[in-house]
Amino acid sequence: MDKQLLLSAFAERFGQGGTVYASPGRINLIGEHTDYNGGFVFPGAVQQGIMAVIRPNGTDTVRAYSMDLKDYAEWPVNDPKGPEATCFRFVYGVARELIERGVDVKGFDTVFAGDVPLGAGMSSSAALESCFAFGLNDLFHGSISKWDMVLAGQATEHKYIGCNCGIMDQFASVFGQAGKLMRLDCRSREFEYFPFEPKGYRLVLVNSCVKHELAGSPYNDRRRSCEKVVAAIQALHPDRKIETLRDCTWEDLEELKIKNEELKITAEDIKRATFVLGEKDRVLAVCDALNKGDYEEVGRQMYRTHEGLSKEYEVSCEELDFLNDIAKECGVTGSRIMGGGFGGCTINLVKDELYAAFTKRAVEAFEAKYGHKPIIIDVVIGDGSRKIE
Ligand code: GLA
Repeated sequence: MDKQLLLSAFAERFGQGGTVYASPGRINLIGEHTDYNGGFVFPGAVQQGIMAVIRPNGTDTVRAYSMDLKDYAEWPVNDPKGPEATCFRFVYGVARELIERGVDVKGFDTVFAGDVPLGAGMSSSAALESCFAFGLNDLFHGSISKWDMVLAGQATEHKYIGCNCGIMDQFASVFGQAGKLMRLDCRSREFEYFPFEPKGYRLVLVNSCVKHELAGSPYNDRRRSCEKVVAAIQALHPDRKIETLRDCTWEDLEELKIKNEELKITAEDIKRATFVLGEKDRVLAVCDALNKGDYEEVGRQMYRTHEGLSKEYEVSCEELDFLNDIAKECGVTGSRIMGGGFGGCTINLVKDELYAAFTKRAVEAFEAKYGHKPIIIDVVIGDGSRKIE
């Protein structure tokens, strides 16, 4: 992203000045669809993200321009409905959520742009939310914590966009640090930075360019299945406190398989919960393997996650399964769908010496089959939300 370009676009519309903020997209090594189930995730921020120039304008109106979409909107900060276009709803929602958290947000002018591909499962929306949560808190002298920024972004998704997402994306965007992954316990919100230097390997994304759209979608359905299973297991065990699938065991699931009909749990609900319980085990196995520097084991678990996301959670698509097969054929250490699914990227753990052959083959074979080239993105773990001086 070019800061100068953004500043000139701002100057052209609103006059010289403004402060620049940036927030990244994210990758996730393992732990998919575990965040809203109280489990662990393993994300890191990337170098690509959203950048915004923002300046209070002394009125109660927000005036916003998206450089990427070449779209402009304005609305009163406290408008009960807000703008219609999704990209502005993020900005609108975050401002409202900040106000609810005590930040005195007034009118402002802004121009924003990004280089994190939209709909690629790299959380362009969390990048946008976090950028404004961080920037508006700073400019309007708020004193909310980083966690409040994360929660304001997540609440924006829930209330203004219609996606009942978990906490991973906004967390990674706000808290990211260059060169480090983070292991987050989504229940306690405790986390740890994990230097990630897999000597001899690298992380590569292959973006299928099949757009995923999570809002009001099958994503929310999956989440609902998990919550139904939790309620059913709780009903079977009133003596225990079962809040999320994190609190459920394989035995609980076996029991539910027998009593499912009376509890109105479908085979599909059970299949989805099976994925989540499996993923919980895989994240722990990966932590163990990382501690031992055993990247081959990390890779095996990634393939298992792909299998689970595809067959049990059913959030894959033909193109992503194809990319996963190609990775296997090329002898790539680990490969899987990254993020919510339904399109977007695979994340691949690739030995240095295989990188060139794998990426070439993935691009050629994919293009031959689907008529367009996938995009190769080399992962560089970058910093979280910040002001650009
Ligand atoms: C999306 C959501 C996250 C998380 C992932 C799947 O990115 O925003 O909260 O649930 O899907 O792991």
